[in-house]
Parts: sequence; structure tokens; C-alpha cells
Amino acid sequence: MTAFEGVKACVFDAYGTLFDVHSAAAAEAGALGERMQPLSQTWRQKQLEYTWLRSLMGAHADFRKVTRDALDFALQAEGITDTDLADRLMQLYLRLDAYPDVRPTLERLRAAGLKTAILSNGEPTMLEAAVTHANLADLLDAVLSVEEVGIYKPDARVYQLAVDRLGLAAPAEIAFVSTNGWDARGAANFGFQVAWMNRFGLQLDRLPGEPKAIMSGLSELPGLLGQRME
Ligand code: LAC
Repeated sequence: MTAFEGVKACVFDAYGTLFDVHSAAAAEAGALGERMQPLSQTWRQKQLEYTWLRSLMGAHADFRKVTRDALDFALQAEGITDTDLADRLMQLYLRLDAYPDVRPTLERLRAAGLKTAILSNGEPTMLEAAVTHANLADLLDAVLSVEEVGIYKPDARVYQLAVDRLGLAAPAEIAFVSTNGWDARGAANFGFQVAWMNRFGLQLDRLPGEPKAIMSGLSELPGLLGQRME
């Protein structure tokens, strides 16, 4: 781990980092039974793959469309044809649980005078719904969506959006936090100071861009950011 220096803003990935993407399927545990976990894993994996592939194809569609396409793929993989269930799962995606360490950490960062923001693949109305449901709006200076640049992470234009919209002089003024290892790598490769939050005990992706720290929970973040946070 190397020290974080000169951080002016903390920018967070949304899905998987602040919001538990598996809470949607969990809320339909009764209907899904033992298919809940494989359904949720395939849904998330395909959702991410479709963002990367659409970006490479130059065929952007917003995250609501990508999320629905991925869900339809996952449902078919599990042999589920219930379209009402599919609609309910999409609605649940707008009301995902926030992890319990999110609100207290944002409060500590704001109390220390740091700006806070979300930078996400999510399209703006999805993000707004999730932020409102989790009651986080008062703790965020900005909720930034890739829709402003029309391409997905880890394209550099997405990360640059945070620098521009937060009025910062350089990428290194941002401490970026993501649970998604490829996003942590992409953000570090771009020039952010990155804390990879390894909530799930995974191995680090073999990609360029070195995170400065690896955390197991968000509450470790304020302590990483230096003296004034102690
Ligand atoms: C996001 C995805 C990567 O919120 O989780 O951008």
C-alpha cells in the first residue's frame, strides 16, 4: 500500500460497491428458489460483458437496456419464462440495498471537507432511484452517469467526466473506490488514486493500473486518506 496524497474528492462506483446488486434476486428468493444465486451471478456477469462489448462495437445502449438484456439472457439460461418475474426484478434493481458501511463512511468523508460523488455505468434515472431509495442524496455532491459521454467504463472519457464535473485540476485529486477489480484497475490506469474494495475476497485482475490500497470494507477509507481524517 502507498499513501494517498492531495485528495480533494472521493468518487465511488455504484453497483457492487455502494449497492448490493444481488439484493434484487434475493428479494425474489421465494420465486427463484435454488436458481436465485446462479441467476443473479449470470445476470451481473452478462450485464458487465455487454457494457464492454457494446463499447468495443461502438453500439452504445443505456444501462437499463443492457441490464434487461442481461436479465433476459440469465432467465433463459435458468429456464425461466415468467415475464412478470422479469419485470419485478427490473423494478427491484431500482431499489437495491445499500451496504451498511456506505452512509457512515460518506458522513465521515464529508465531515472532513472532502467532496463525494458517484461515477457509474448506470443511466441517470436508475442512479437517482437507487440513491433516493438508499437515502444518500444529501451526502453526495454529484451523481455522474456514463450517459454524458455515451460509452462505458473503463473508457478514459468516463473517468475524465469526474475530473471535469467536480472542477478538479488533475485525476490524482480523486480517490476512487470500486469493488469491481477491472474498474479499480481502469481508474488507476487513468490516473486516479484508487482503493480497491475487495468485499468478496477475490484475486486482483491481471490488468494495468495499480490500486494504492486494498480494503475489505468502506469504513477503512477515511483512515487511508491521511492525517486530517484521523
Ligand atoms: C457501475 C458498475 C461498474 O456502477 O458497477 O459503474
